[in-house]
Amino acid sequence: MGNVYNFLMAFSAAMGGLLFGYEIGVIGQVLAMDSTFGVYYGLTSLVDGKYVATDANTSRTGDITSLFLVGCLVGALAVSWMADVIGRKKSILVGGVLFTAGAVLQTFSNGFGMLIAGRIIGGAGIGILSMVAPLYIAETAPAHLRGRMVTVQQLMITIGIFVASCINAIIIKTVDGDTKWRLALGMQMVPGVVLFFLTFIMPESPRWLANRDQDAEALRTLAKLRSVSQDDPAVIAEHREIKESIEMERQIGTANWSELLKPGILNRTVYGFLNQMFQQWTGINYNMYYAPKLIERMGFNKDDADIPFTIANNFINLIGTFPGMYLIERSGRRKLFLWGALGMGISQLLTCLFANLSTNHGKGFSWAAIFAVYGFVLNFAATWGPVVWVYQSEIFPLRVRSKGTGFATMSNWGNNAIIGKVGPIMTANIEFYTYLVFGIIALTAGVYVYFFIPETMGKSLEDMDVVFGATPTTHHAAQKELEEAEVEATKAKA
Ligand code: BGC
Repeated sequence: MGNVYNFLMAFSAAMGGLLFGYEIGVIGQVLAMDSTFGVYYGLTSLVDGKYVATDANTSRTGDITSLFLVGCLVGALAVSWMADVIGRKKSILVGGVLFTAGAVLQTFSNGFGMLIAGRIIGGAGIGILSMVAPLYIAETAPAHLRGRMVTVQQLMITIGIFVASCINAIIIKTVDGDTKWRLALGMQMVPGVVLFFLTFIMPESPRWLANRDQDAEALRTLAKLRSVSQDDPAVIAEHREIKESIEMERQIGTANWSELLKPGILNRTVYGFLNQMFQQWTGINYNMYYAPKLIERMGFNKDDADIPFTIANNFINLIGTFPGMYLIERSGRRKLFLWGALGMGISQLLTCLFANLSTNHGKGFSWAAIFAVYGFVLNFAATWGPVVWVYQSEIFPLRVRSKGTGFATMSNWGNNAIIGKVGPIMTANIEFYTYLVFGIIALTAGVYVYFFIPETMGKSLEDMDVVFGATPTTHHAAQKELEEAEVEATKAKA
């Protein structure tokens, strides 16, 4: 029972992930809808009862997808500063408000300019949330549950993607005219508003409070999160440990962006960036955005490709997250990274093989290719999907934490945008061999992890310096004291 409140707060912050996922799930389908959306924004025109792409189609479609991602990049950059100045909780609030405002603009848009404004503003909200929500969760969680709590964020992303595809399926089947796409976009407001209200019950991060010398509040929050009283020895020791690491960090000086390049930090900056880069280049979002097109190429009809395959894909992505949540605090981060890279690499290579065979050796291979795609998604969902976010939220010292995680998150959005842009070009030029490229990159990611990525499971945030070979910013005496206090507390309970 002790961690129920803490888990609830993690779920609240992770609503940010649900918005993130909902957006990933919704836009591809809105673009693919044979509805008045295309006509309204000059992407298609209706000729003899059929929707035909206009000359502006490619550039406008690219703008609708990529300008959103540009908004995300800007948001992720701004929040590194914002999360330090106004705090983690208020940044979540700002992210939720921007996302909702963007959704309102998109829903009621009266022209391309307004739509794009809505995309950029909504994107900024998502950029903010995708960085600050996992950071908030990591800072409020006890060390032994931190990984699992941060994975709640990934779970919410996958729920968002799944729910978006189900709601869209219903909208596609039941609604007509402009209302179809306006409703699909408008549904984004629902989780946005829910998140807005949840921020009123979320406490501020105790680590951020302690850093602002609001110590009484920090201790009170910590005690509330751990469901114990403020004079509980473990909580007092945990508070002292946080304080000591802050003091130590202050003595060394204040952080600016260039600090991410300093010895002892630079390796973490690079790992944060590369982990996100590899995560994107496993091809997960290529699958999210463009798999239906390739499934059609394998001989299935458009309706099957768009709705049931997408829903099945997103459902596997959702349930696959559970083994990841379980294993992250058992097998650790490194093993999940390694197994995942291997599993995803093999699946992508098999997809390439079967998809190629499917073109002249029959449906059996088409189905085999689809199962290989699902195998890939399952592997991703249980490993790199959650672990990358957990890892980046825990490796940086407090002083540079928001900048380090912000930089890594920008790598997520930047690489996502590149894949969004080059995905169709790859499909056009090398078709199913696109999977070969992603498969090779996934295997390379495994080699990179094997040689570089240290385990962080069970380490306190204050202890990461030791893991990454930097001068420790924490007193180990404090750590020892904390452990002793925890032992005492456990004995007392028993
Ligand atoms: C990734 C997203 C991806 C999602 C799929 C996340 O971890 O960062 O880009 O769409 O997982 O579940």
